[in-house]
Amino acid sequence: LPQCPPRARAAVASLGPGRGEEWIGDAARRGARVFADTGWDESGRWDLGALADLEHCEAFLPNAGEAMRYTHTDCPRAAARALAEKVPIAVVTMGAEGSYAVDGHTGETAHVPGIAVEALDPTGAGDVYVAGFVTGTLAGWPLADRLAFAGLTAALSVQEFGGSLSAPGWPEVAHWWRAAPHGLRGRYGFLDDLIPQAATPAARRRAVPTIGFRHSA
Ligand SMILES: Nc1ncnc2c1ncn2[C@@H]1O[C@H](COP(=O)(O)OP(=O)(O)OP(=O)(O)O)[C@@H](O)[C@H]1O
Ligand SMILES: [Mg+2]
Repeated sequence: LPQCPPRARAAVASLGPGRGEEWIGDAARRGARVFADTGWDESGRWDLGALADLEHCEAFLPNAGEAMRYTHTDCPRAAARALAEKVPIAVVTMGAEGSYAVDGHTGETAHVPGIAVEALDPTGAGDVYVAGFVTGTLAGWPLADRLAFAGLTAALSVQEFGGSLSAPGWPEVAHWWRAAPHGLRGRYGFLDDLIPQAATPAARRRAVPTIGFRHSA
């Protein structure tokens, strides 16, 4: 990241233990809403206090394994509740199971199950999820719609190879919505207001990542 990020409405930070980064506080002070993810703590300490920049963040979106270790809890919901004492919105992602969130200010909680897809490559699911959540937050959507949209974008991405290359755009979201299973039409009904009825999204060719697979002879 650049030393001095440009002024932005939102920023995404990857927090690591003991790895404070000045730009995060700077961005928050200049009005950016900061959304944070984290990863596996190689030190094995799992000390939430070591994620000092969390104090600048509006939301924290770890996966369930990370969230439970950082909070010394044994279920994702308890982990989210504990995290919501440290950050305004805690979202715990649970792979194919979906995600669960707690808004510590209002006490609102939300759980949205994952969308059943054939997962080809989970790379980047967490990142795409955060991007979807930021999109819905900036648009001012309710918490549950934000979880649903983030989960949808991530579910669409794991169907393709690659990380950022597999992140869906609006054509892919629209394409999914047109054929969405009946049982999901209520939960994802908010997409009706976002996707123009008339527009038929053109099928897009995706860039295909070059991935080498090692074969044993
Ligand atoms: N197999 C899947 N089917 C459907 N949705 C999925 C699947 N895997 C991931 N997702 C979606 O992506 C979100 C994030 O995935 P996950 O909880 O695995 O994060 P992660 O382990 O942090 O991922 P990453 O390895 O990219 O950091 C989930 O909450 C879910 O909405
Ligand atoms: Mg992750």
